Amino acid sequence: MTFDDQELLERDPLIERILIPSQDIQRRVAELGREISSDYTEEVPVLVSVLKGAVVFLADLMRRVSVPHEIDFMSVSSYQGGKQSTGVVKILMDLKTNISDRDVLIVEDIIDTGATLTYLQEILLARRPRSLRLCTLLNKADARTESLNIDYKGFDIPNEFVIGYGLDYAEKYRNLPFIGVMKG
Ligand code: IMP
Ligand code: MG
Repeated sequence: MTFDDQELLERDPLIERILIPSQDIQRRVAELGREISSDYTEEVPVLVSVLKGAVVFLADLMRRVSVPHEIDFMSVSSYQGGKQSTGVVKILMDLKTNISDRDVLIVEDIIDTGATLTYLQEILLARRPRSLRLCTLLNKADARTESLNIDYKGFDIPNEFVIGYGLDYAEKYRNLPFIGVMKG
């Protein structure tokens, strides 16, 4: 744990503890970047990120991907600002890229029930990409209601509500460099 993580933790009484220190995140992101770089050597992939939570992860990950690639964004909503998944998924903003015949890599911050990703994969597959893979920084395997194949995974985490590194609670805490657990 770095001094910065500890200082930020002590400054906010609503954060219970640090689950993944920033150093561990950075090390794992670099590993994922190397894996992705060695898998996409033929065509230029497009990294599709889901706003807003995954932007922090994408920004770090793409700088660890050494092969040429493009990025694009989508916005979907499944949470209504609270701590419980509603299971309702809505497209708020679509891609600009035509992904037909492209190698698409979805970059997500966290997979919880899997409802969001299952829905997103369906939509993207209907556009006939050449390939569609999934990369997530965090995986809450115990919360899964849909079966999903994850190609690149940062960390398995317990079924607790986490914040930081892009993840929010009521739009706050996205700026934290670590993954933390909120006080219940
Ligand atoms: P799913 O559809 O249940 O897999 O939920 C996926 C989305 O819910 C993620 O992209 C996050 O935006 C949000 N989410 C799930 N778990 C957490 C959490 O622990 N903290 C913050 N957001 C979460
Ligand atoms: Mg998200």
